[in-house]
Amino acid sequence: MKGKKIVLGITGSIAAYKAAILIRGLIKKGAEVQVVITPAGKEFITPITLSALTSKPVVSEFFAQRDGTWNSHVDLGLWADAMVIAPATASTIGKMANGIADNMLITTYLSMKAPVFVAPAMDLDMFAHPSTQKNLDTLRSYGNHIIEPGEGELASHLVGKGRMEEPEKIVEVLENFFKQQQDLKGKKVMITAGPTYEKIDPVRFIGNYSSGKMGYALAEECANRGAEVTLVSGPVTLKAHHPNIHRVDVESAQQMYEAAKEAFSNTDAAILCAAVADFTPDIVADHKIKREKDNLILHLKPTQDIAASLGKEKKNGQIMVGFALETNDEQQNAQGKLERKNFDFIVLNSLNDKGAGFRVDTNKITIIDKEGATPYPLKNKTEVASDIIDRLVECLKN
Ligand code: C5P
Repeated sequence: MKGKKIVLGITGSIAAYKAAILIRGLIKKGAEVQVVITPAGKEFITPITLSALTSKPVVSEFFAQRDGTWNSHVDLGLWADAMVIAPATASTIGKMANGIADNMLITTYLSMKAPVFVAPAMDLDMFAHPSTQKNLDTLRSYGNHIIEPGEGELASHLVGKGRMEEPEKIVEVLENFFKQQQDLKGKKVMITAGPTYEKIDPVRFIGNYSSGKMGYALAEECANRGAEVTLVSGPVTLKAHHPNIHRVDVESAQQMYEAAKEAFSNTDAAILCAAVADFTPDIVADHKIKREKDNLILHLKPTQDIAASLGKEKKNGQIMVGFALETNDEQQNAQGKLERKNFDFIVLNSLNDKGAGFRVDTNKITIIDKEGATPYPLKNKTEVASDIIDRLVECLKN
């Protein structure tokens, strides 16, 4: 953070008092902070406090004085290494999403060349409202980083999601961002994610419980670190937010194989995270199968092993990362897959570990390569993605 120039946008939320602690945290790490505050923000924290903490006059009005000078939002946009809007109200988020530039903070945001971080703070119902969520999605699609609010007691005394993330955490997010910022810049990464659906008849399929959360977290992490990502995704309800993620939607193992094969030749790394069906119906019925008999026998044939097939094509310098979800003899099975599929390393998660596996937000992994096994503690899937990508970056360097 040393020497980093941060524009801190403050808006009219009670959490504005925490901006003082945030400024202290940033300055302690060596950053320079310029506050831009909205008129409503000044009702919650005084510019005197803020300018004393930052040693800089606070920017609030378009015009500094009535003497023909004005505050240049364009200069601020060029000056900053990052902009953080904390707290960000529903109103400011809505204006940012729609380009309504009626105050200095929004004009600065629209002129910003540097990455923007947004820490929402509002009542739980305002946060949950579809319009707020839609606006946040829009901001994500512009490449802005949303620092999710926490859950707990709110200023209204209601309990729920909406309280601004703690200042210490926001400092940590920025610190991590600057640390690893662009270590995948110029790299192309292909990721498979989610389940596959294998058609039985026009209304039925064989599927699995994969939600795609791990694969999508990996895609966001790679894109945040500068990579161009091709995300070959089975049917999931998730969205990819970063503009550098090119998503290819597929349904069956065969479609995933074709899409992955096409993308692979042009990539530096491939992460095979999808839960691909191993078998698919031999024949897909043209019409809905009727319940006529006492039993029904489905004949299945094996699908293509995407990882094994790409492993054979792998060129010098290309890195391949696999996943193994095991229920027994975990390490031994994962080791076998590492060799058989020609992975550089494999991420093992065991269904025996609480908090690991399908449809949960956390994961507990062990990374296995030729040298041995490294276990990691239980973490959320975003942090797990960061650990996995740290390892990938190391492999790409060697
Ligand atoms: O053999 P198993 O399915 O457990 O291997 C898991 C690894 O292989 C994962 O990385 C998974 O994405 C990949 N895989 C694949 N194509 C298949 C089956 C698995 O790419 N048909």
